[in-house]
This record gives sequence, structure tokens and C-alpha cells, in this order.
Amino acid sequence: MKIERYPPTNSTSLQAWNSADELLVQQADNHVTKQMQLAIYHDTFGYLSCHLHSFNPQVVTVSKSQEKAIIRNLQLNKQPVDGLSIINPLGDLEKKTDVVFMKMPKSNDLFELFLNHIINNLDEDGTVYVGFMTRNFSSGALAMAKKYFDSVEQTKAIKKARLMILRKPVGGKKESLIHKIEYQDLVFQQYYGVFSANNIDYATQYLIENLKVTESDLNILDLGCGNGVIGIMAHKINPEAQVHYIDDQNIAIESARLNSKDGTFYHQDNLDSFADNEFHLVLSNPPFHFEHENNIEISLNLFREVHRILKKNGSFQMVANQHLNYKPHLQKIFKSVHSVNNHAKYIIYRCLK
Ligand SMILES: C[S@@+](CC[C@H](N)C(=O)[O-])C[C@H]1O[C@@H](n2cnc3c(N)ncnc32)[C@H](O)[C@@H]1O
Repeated sequence: MKIERYPPTNSTSLQAWNSADELLVQQADNHVTKQMQLAIYHDTFGYLSCHLHSFNPQVVTVSKSQEKAIIRNLQLNKQPVDGLSIINPLGDLEKKTDVVFMKMPKSNDLFELFLNHIINNLDEDGTVYVGFMTRNFSSGALAMAKKYFDSVEQTKAIKKARLMILRKPVGGKKESLIHKIEYQDLVFQQYYGVFSANNIDYATQYLIENLKVTESDLNILDLGCGNGVIGIMAHKINPEAQVHYIDDQNIAIESARLNSKDGTFYHQDNLDSFADNEFHLVLSNPPFHFEHENNIEISLNLFREVHRILKKNGSFQMVANQHLNYKPHLQKIFKSVHSVNNHAKYIIYRCLK
């Protein structure tokens, strides 16, 4: 079977699966029968969905890029995608499940969202297998598993990966999980698993304190919007503006929808749905982590697309950790790049098309 990363990468060291995925598939081969209802959670690039396809799994993900990776890899391996059910954890599974295979997410908050979803959709005699690399194990994740399951066991490590085996779900329907974050005179709501659960991220705050929004900025994009805080603060400065919110995670988009009553929302991982020269202003605290990998390739591709969708003389304002050193990359794309760096840790770039 051939499994490729989406989006593709130039790095030869980044892989599309690891030994935690292999361990999960071995477990399925030994313990799952065709009569069982199977669900897969957080299948990074589709290794699990491709190998377990014959069990007709229900596939749960929050991310558009993950959904695309799964579909592309099924197609690459000539497996049918019609009838594949891809579900997000804000809705229920179509059928109760007997057995779950999950790749443990980096974020414990997202892990909790998934566990909460699982216990609402799992047969009471069901089993959950969670695969992870031992170097990524955290006591927080173990505590989370014990909050939702009375029986939590771990296998021995094989090729530096291990499984957690969860049984006996703790009873009682669990509610949807939403954090409330106070910032300035507003309260932002966000589903568990959305970026920066406890406070508005400090880099984001620094960008907001330095936003330059004028009354002629009528069409604004909040790129990688999370709970929508950047776009919402820009809208406060120019209430005439139409603000668009885009994020790879549906839980982020649904959070932004809770916080902004008059935005336009896109659950997408690229800017293909926007025309050339469409925006006066694009704002972002862009992603530079992909799970446990540090990877700025995704952001650099987005920056090239930002240039395309900006109007002439339109502005791209973004914040980043100083050490990422985006300036030379941005200078290759934009007519001018001005930086504001009176902060010890973060830097703001204002780029003009
Ligand atoms: C650093 S967080 C910023 C979130 C929010 N703007 C804030 O400041 O709190 C980056 C966001 O980008 C999103 N993201 C990652 N890759 C993306 C992509 N390819 N397209 C759109 N959004 C993406 C992530 O889901 C995450 O919500």
C-alpha cells in the first residue's frame, strides 16, 4: 500500500505514518471481526483508513487537510470512496461503534473532545485502541483517558510505539465541550481542541494591539482564524468591513461562528475559493506546527496564496515567533515588508502587495 502526505512536502525526513499506526493496524488484524462496527479517529494521513477500509469504518476528523489526505490515499490505493462516512466530532456517529482506533492527537484538549465523543457513541462493551509514540506520551493524556474510562491499560512498547487500551466507558451523556475566554470587554467561546484553550494567545494579542485597519479596508480575511478573535477585533475597528474567516479545523470555524454573528466562514485548508485581488487586508497568526512536527512549509504556501488574493496595495499583517525568521521568505513574495519588533518573543510583519 502506498500512503502519501497531504499537503505534499519537500522534506525527505517527514513521513506519512509511523510505528504507532502499524501497531494499531496489527491490533485490528488480530482482534476485529467483520461483524463489528469500527470507527477511526484522527487518522493523520489515511494509513488507518486505507488499511482498515474493508471494515467499512466511520472516520472522525476535525481537519479538512486530514479529510483530503484520507480520500487521496484511498484513491491512490484504488479503494472506493463512495459511501465513506467522514464525520466531525460535533455531530454523532451514524451507527454506534464496537471498536475504535485512534491516533493520539498532540493536543490533550482535542484528545478530550474525541474521548467525549467516543463515550457518547460507543457500545458499553466496546474497546478503544489509542496509538502513540512513547516519546510523545504525557501524564495528562493518561489522566484524560482515566476520566472517561474505568479500565485503562497500556501495551509494551514496540518500535518506540505503544497502545492505550480503554474499556468500560464512564456512564452518562457528556455535553459538548466549550471553553470561555475573557478578552478586553468580550467573552470568546471555543470548542475543546481549538488553538489556545485558556487565554487569547500572547502573539495574537500583540498582533491585535498593533493592527492597522482603515475605513477603506472593506474586505478582510482572518486566515487560520481559530476562535475568530483577530477578525472580530478588526471588525470592531471598521464595522463596515465584511470579515471572512477560514480555518482547516471545523471546530475552529464553528467556534468563530459562535463568536461572530456577521462573518462569512470557510472550512478549508487553502485559499482556492477566493478570486485574485479580492481582499484589502489579510490578518493571521499562522500555523507553524503540524502535530509534533515544526513545519513552516504550509505557511509559506499560504503566504504565496495571500499575495494572489490581495488587491494591489492590499496589506498582509501577521505575527510570528521571532526565531522563525519569516522576513526573507516574505520579501520574496511581497513588494515591501515592514516589521514591528519591540517585543522580546514575537514579531509583526506588515507586507504590501
Ligand atoms: C496559531 S493558530 C491561530 C488561531 C487564531 N487566529 C488565534 O490567533 O487564536 C493557527 C490556526 O491555523 C489553522 N490552520 C492550520 N493549517 C491551516 C491551513 N492550511 N489553512 C487554514 N487554517 C489552517 C489552525 O487550525 C489554527 O487554528
